[in-house]
Amino acid sequence: MEKIGFGIIGAGLWGESHARIYSSHPLSQLVAVCDLNQERAHHIAQKYGASQYYTDYQEMLQNPDIKAVSIVTPDFAHREPFIAACQAGKDILIEKPLATTHQDLLQMKNVYQQTGVRVMVDFHTRFNPPIAIAQENILEGNLGQLISFYYRLNDVISVPLNMLSWAAQSSILWFLGSHAIDTLRFLGGSEVKRVYSVSRSEVLVSKGLPVPDIYQSILEFENGAIATIENNWIVPNTNPHWNDIKLNILGTKGMINMDLTGNQAIERYLEDKSDHPDILIMPTIHGKPMGFAHESIRDFIEKLANGEKFVADFQDGYQVSKVVLSLLASADERMPKEVKYE
Ligand SMILES: NC(=O)c1ccc[n+]([C@@H]2O[C@H](COP(=O)([O-])OP(=O)(O)OC[C@H]3O[C@@H](n4cnc5c(N)ncnc54)[C@H](O)[C@@H]3O)[C@@H](O)[C@H]2O)c1
Repeated sequence: MEKIGFGIIGAGLWGESHARIYSSHPLSQLVAVCDLNQERAHHIAQKYGASQYYTDYQEMLQNPDIKAVSIVTPDFAHREPFIAACQAGKDILIEKPLATTHQDLLQMKNVYQQTGVRVMVDFHTRFNPPIAIAQENILEGNLGQLISFYYRLNDVISVPLNMLSWAAQSSILWFLGSHAIDTLRFLGGSEVKRVYSVSRSEVLVSKGLPVPDIYQSILEFENGAIATIENNWIVPNTNPHWNDIKLNILGTKGMINMDLTGNQAIERYLEDKSDHPDILIMPTIHGKPMGFAHESIRDFIEKLANGEKFVADFQDGYQVSKVVLSLLASADERMPKEVKYE
């Protein structure tokens, strides 16, 4: 089978994960890498064997060898490359969140519907084995009717302070809350109809970063299920992992509990630290990039090749962004909000 040619727009921390998979999958070829930072684009292109690098994605999109692109620019900078890629007829894997304003969502939806390219949103939590197994159990009816979820999805404080140069232009609700909402939609098979969120700003503001530390949110789903989600990015850096993830799913006939970052199956004790190395998100096994974060990118390649439906598509990204916008409005106004999807 002929290899599919890929390009990457945004070759930062996460763009490198996309390069890693496109350059190592038998069905794909990494053709080009684009980043505003020329040195970074060149470095990632060289490291992963792409023959070309660019600083202007419009130029890269003219390359006929590129069939599909990944959009891995910061959260607030997805609209323009998305619209350009649609207009150039490229299929798209776009990082979450799809977009962060009502206006961006509307413009992206209009162009997407006119051009008919294929779009996957990288909600990679759907590929996390315990989440996928829980969904199967729910679909098989093992838990009965869903009553409630409790979902804690947090980041250590070095993420906003040291890792993301653009944290002040985003929010933990965009960065992780979007995953939490998508996962609950995926598990429950239902849309969020009403939300209430309360935020608090203490720690990051005191360190000069003007964003809330935490959002505690209540979600009501159309099927009657209710959820409490907690998203903060001020977990101490001594946490055994960069995330803190706990999930409880309660139904009329059963319950599932998850500790997704304890990684208790492996304990490592070194002279100066002890920890639990990553086994789920993106470990390297026998030289191969594994874990659910890599698996979703691999799945994009395979679904492009075989024409099957993506596990998370444009509409999933759209719905999730609308819920996050409602949560942000709720926290600002300290009022419950109905989610409006139009
Ligand atoms: N960091 C993570 O753990 C992680 C995980 C999953 C998803 N994501 C998502 O991936 C996206 C990128 O995050 P990141 O952590 O890689 O950020 P990053 O800041 O490390 O990288 C973003 C890159 O995009 C480039 N860029 C910005 N505008 C551009 C443009 N117009 N054209 C070309 N390049 C441009 C920047 O120069 C930068 O190198 C975000 O939406 C984020 O939510 C990040």
